[in-house]
Amino acid sequence: MSDSIGVAVIGAGMAGKAHMAAWRNAPSLFAPTLPPVRLVSIGDVYEPLAAEAAQRFGYARHDTDWRAIAEADDIDVVSVVVANTLHREIVEGLLAAGKHVLCEKPLSDSLEDARAMATAATEASQRGLVARVGFTYRRAPGLAAIKQLVEDGTLGRVLHFSGRYWTDYGSSPDVPFSWRFAGAPGTGALADVGSHLAYVAEFLAGEVQSVNGGLFTTAITKRPIAAGFALRGQAVPLTGEFADVENDDYATFNARFGDGSVVGSLEVSRVATAHPNGLVVEVFCENGAARWDQERASEIGLALQSDGSRLGGYRQVVLGPDHPYVAGGMAMDAPGVGWGQNQMFEYQARAFLDEVAGVADPLPANATFDDGVHNMEILDAVARSAAAGGAALDVPPVRTTEGAHA
Ligand SMILES: NC(=O)c1ccc[n+]([C@@H]2O[C@H](COP(=O)([O-])OP(=O)(O)OC[C@H]3O[C@@H](n4cnc5c(N)ncnc54)[C@H](O)[C@@H]3O)[C@@H](O)[C@H]2O)c1
Repeated sequence: MSDSIGVAVIGAGMAGKAHMAAWRNAPSLFAPTLPPVRLVSIGDVYEPLAAEAAQRFGYARHDTDWRAIAEADDIDVVSVVVANTLHREIVEGLLAAGKHVLCEKPLSDSLEDARAMATAATEASQRGLVARVGFTYRRAPGLAAIKQLVEDGTLGRVLHFSGRYWTDYGSSPDVPFSWRFAGAPGTGALADVGSHLAYVAEFLAGEVQSVNGGLFTTAITKRPIAAGFALRGQAVPLTGEFADVENDDYATFNARFGDGSVVGSLEVSRVATAHPNGLVVEVFCENGAARWDQERASEIGLALQSDGSRLGGYRQVVLGPDHPYVAGGMAMDAPGVGWGQNQMFEYQARAFLDEVAGVADPLPANATFDDGVHNMEILDAVARSAAAGGAALDVPPVRTTEGAHA
């Protein structure tokens, strides 16, 4: 184990800040088994944002070129939290420079780039480097609790899955064009939030074997062009020009999981007014059913057939220290305190640091780049299904060429 771990975050936008806070808080979760974590640098091409974020989250400096972070001797671990199309160049550069990399989802905006990144990760793993993808939701205590109930037989085998990830960040036609609206069909809502939903579906229902019924729509076809730096949700002057939206505002598809007998439907949107972050999943199992809603993240719904028809139905289970990730995993870990998505980034960061430091009792490891490729193979199959009028298409099984598979 090294004496200390220096961390940096590239990308100081919406999710970048969650990473900055997560590295800062991760050593305080659970037992103090990590070496000291040094908060070294925030990298962003927009200098005022990088400087402000470094100050706000207590990082020693900021950089405006990711290469400075790659070259820095005092940095060991780097989060890559920039537009998907930029992931490959930065990740490959960091791995070549000997950094451990936590890359945001989806792994890239093209399958070809994602596969090249997985090859780079495999090569880097032989040099002792860890490369993982930020599928944060596997850390949601509610989803982890449902998985436990499936696996310990309380719920038993999943029969079918239903999930939606509705967001509304693109609902208004006044929202300016940004990287999220550029790219081939499938790189819109499907890649942005469908990547999470597909990962969660597999976490609960097993590996996706095939998809069908792919359907996309672009509801708002033109968006105003911002005159300057624009972060999501912030007012910004406009040029008066418009750009064509290139990818999906909405996507839906069906999937077969495991041996093909488990089925499910998945639906995503970025134009679902009044659903800012509406990830909701439900699993129907041989002994009952369970559901989780991100907007009520510290509870699950549970229904058990053994309750019978007189008393049966969904009950609210308020999560606490008897459920995964909670005991010792929060500053105040009493029942009913509540939590949200920011905590999941902290668990993710802790799992990454556990793996880098080689601690004795680590959190379950983050998804590998091979998992990230598989996730993109699902998205790619959905896009091809949509282009072929909803055709059924097989998805290749996940490869395991690098590091430990969680
Ligand atoms: N895990 C999650 O829950 C989650 C949530 C949101 C976003 N994400 C992912 O995080 C990534 C970033 O999304 P976001 O919403 O934070 O984007 P964002 O647009 O809010 O921020 C991106 C930042 O990257 C900066 N940037 C652009 N080019 C750069 C470069 N070459 N070097 C350094 N910085 C550069 C921009 O100035 C901006 O500040 C995406 O891959 C996205 O899918 C994950």
